[in-house]
Amino acid sequence: MKQIRALGLSSLGLAVLASCRNTALKMSCSQLVVDRIDPLVNPGILGSPHLHQLVGGNSLNATMHPAEDRAELSTCTTCTFSDDFSNYWTAIMYFRARNGTYKRVKQIGTIGSETARGGGITIYYFPHSKDPTNMVAFKKGFRMRNGDPNARNATSASKTVAFPDHMGPEGIIATIYFPPCWDGINLNSPDHYSHVSWPNEGKYDEGGPCPATHPVKIPQIVLEIRWDTREFNSADLWPEDGSQPFVWSFGDTTGYGHHGDYVFGWRGESLVIAFSDDEGCAGAGNTLCTLGPQTIARANECQVAPSVKEEVDGWLATMPGIVEAEL
Ligand SMILES: *[C@@H]1O[C@H](CO)[C@@H](O)[C@H](O)[C@H]1NC(C)=O
Ligand SMILES: *[C@@H]1O[C@H](CO)[C@@H](O)[C@H](O)[C@H]1NC(C)=O
Ligand SMILES: *[C@@H]1O[C@H](CO)[C@@H](O)[C@H](O)[C@H]1NC(C)=O
Repeated sequence: MKQIRALGLSSLGLAVLASCRNTALKMSCSQLVVDRIDPLVNPGILGSPHLHQLVGGNSLNATMHPAEDRAELSTCTTCTFSDDFSNYWTAIMYFRARNGTYKRVKQIGTIGSETARGGGITIYYFPHSKDPTNMVAFKKGFRMRNGDPNARNATSASKTVAFPDHMGPEGIIATIYFPPCWDGINLNSPDHYSHVSWPNEGKYDEGGPCPATHPVKIPQIVLEIRWDTREFNSADLWPEDGSQPFVWSFGDTTGYGHHGDYVFGWRGESLVIAFSDDEGCAGAGNTLCTLGPQTIARANECQVAPSVKEEVDGWLATMPGIVEAEL
């Protein structure tokens, strides 16, 4: 049996996350659904501007009011930490053929999560490397977006990089880092981003301190998605002008606009417990973990139907939402 440390309270009255030996939480989250909803940016709208893949708790819908408890409303989750009913989502990648039609790029789970349905997202929660004990858990209703869908160059998107200009034998791994500093007050903000921040100097994972405007350290959420581009690895399929053929479902052909969304939904204090497990919760497959992790096969059983009924696969004249590649 392992011991669970008593939960501390920070000066803000929020539960303090005592990180277990500075290790990160890691889990596999199978695809819950591919749908044209965006509960954060376009709440209540069935048919958001572009297509997403969404993972996590099955209480997902287009509305997701902040007063609701995702864990209470969900009956299953696609994540292997079975107490995490949060939702996480990203855009979808498409391949644009020479004849101008589009085909969805399939996903495959990252190493160790290859069997995740639809590939899904591998998700990490990283503690602050220099001072992991003074982090707080997200509060019910907390949500944020990271990355700027309008970014098309490195200046406007410091944390993302371009689509590769060559074929990859293993596909493309996209990684989205969420900011690790919070203002400690707001669960959301008009741009879904201003209530969180990066350290002013240095990198968070190298101990960079949070700025005075956003002094509260939160776990850094990192999403990892593997796009299986291998079926398009042929010189006959790539554009004749030497450009690369991939495009995000919102039209971006540069890659810089990649972004991710998060709505918190861990059950009760389970995130705090995950981090304070003395045996370490370095992976949901770790049987020493306190959270009763479920297998990927079990997580694969959790699924919801898309709320927007439309063709997302096959060779399409435009991407869903009548989005076309910006050429
Ligand atoms: C989403 O779920 C909530 C809670 O069950 C419900 O009140 C709301 O009507 C649902 N919204 C949609 C668009 O289905
Ligand atoms: C467009 O190109 C793709 C890839 O070469 C091909 O599979 C598809 O059949 C083409 N569609 C049309 C309408 O020519
Ligand atoms: C980079 O993108 C921004 C808009 O996101 C634009 O204002 C700026 O002119 C672009 N810079 C270059 C060098 O293209």
